[in-house]
Amino acid sequence: MKTAEGLAEYLDARRAEVASALAAFLPTPPDAPEVVDSALRYSLLAGGKRLRPILCLASADAVGGLRSMAMPAACAIELIHTYSLIHDDLPAMDNDTMRRGRPTLHVVAGEGMAILAGDGLLTEAFHLLAREPASQDAHIALRKLRVIETIARAAGVEGMVGGQAIDLASVTPDDAGRLPHLDADALRAMHARKTGALIRASAVSGAIMGGGTAVQIGAIDSAAGEFGLAFQIVDDILDVEGVAATLGKTAGKDAAAGKPTYPALYGLETSRRMAADCLERAEAALRRVAIEDDRLLAIGKWIVNRSN
Ligand code: IPE
Ligand code: IPE
Ligand code: MG
Ligand code: MG
Ligand code: MG
Repeated sequence: MKTAEGLAEYLDARRAEVASALAAFLPTPPDAPEVVDSALRYSLLAGGKRLRPILCLASADAVGGLRSMAMPAACAIELIHTYSLIHDDLPAMDNDTMRRGRPTLHVVAGEGMAILAGDGLLTEAFHLLAREPASQDAHIALRKLRVIETIARAAGVEGMVGGQAIDLASVTPDDAGRLPHLDADALRAMHARKTGALIRASAVSGAIMGGGTAVQIGAIDSAAGEFGLAFQIVDDILDVEGVAATLGKTAGKDAAAGKPTYPALYGLETSRRMAADCLERAEAALRRVAIEDDRLLAIGKWIVNRSN
């Protein structure tokens, strides 16, 4: 059994690797015009927990694979995640002025450049996935194709974009001034798309690139689905309980905007219990196929117990 000891060291080491890989994988000026390069690097290299790339690398570890094989997928997902944050913060969406402890990109570079930086990050993610890891090996090429499909589905209308659309529609009145009501199932489904899908794809991509078996990949997928729901429940809780200085983003926005969230539907205490229940189900999914990797479970605990 792998040990969960040293999670903080593991997170720090992976964050450092991801930071240098991200910087190295992106095109640089003069290939990329300085004006868009500096805009997207402003948001991408502003910190962030790097949960998704770390989960991707930890999943490659969990199936006994090479982390280096999973690094392009890990970075591609962080590019897509950062694009989703830039667009999520736009005035036409959540209209946020603070992200990762800095003014949002549209505040400093204008809405047009923020839209383009997001477009650039999304597109460069797939450029990277197609290119790396560079190999003539047909098995590696097949893994890359599966990962491209996995990530595209998770980022697209079946996943993150679909979830964001439901979220946006939930605060957009119809012609008669009515708002759609999201019941418990609809709320869970929205969270599964807008946040869960990319978190699942992170873990699944790492397991695929690490050469995991179908059974291992299935279990990691189930566990990561639970992590994804827990992650967004906790994000909703932190929006109520957190403070901007720790969060690096404005607190209290969800209630002010009338967003459908777990605390709004269930209250804080039940929401906390529901996040903890996700962890139990994740652990059961992994144990069923004897992925006795305490590190993945430690990452799950971090997701639930975090303060930012
Ligand atoms: C915030 O994601 C947006 C959601 C999907 C809830 P993170 O909390 O992972 O943001 P960073 O990457 O650490 O900034
Ligand atoms: C955003 O959810 C999910 C994304 C796909 C970006 P939120 O709108 O709750 O994320 P924050 O709270 O602004 O980070
Ligand atoms: Mg949002
Ligand atoms: Mg938001
Ligand atoms: Mg939020």
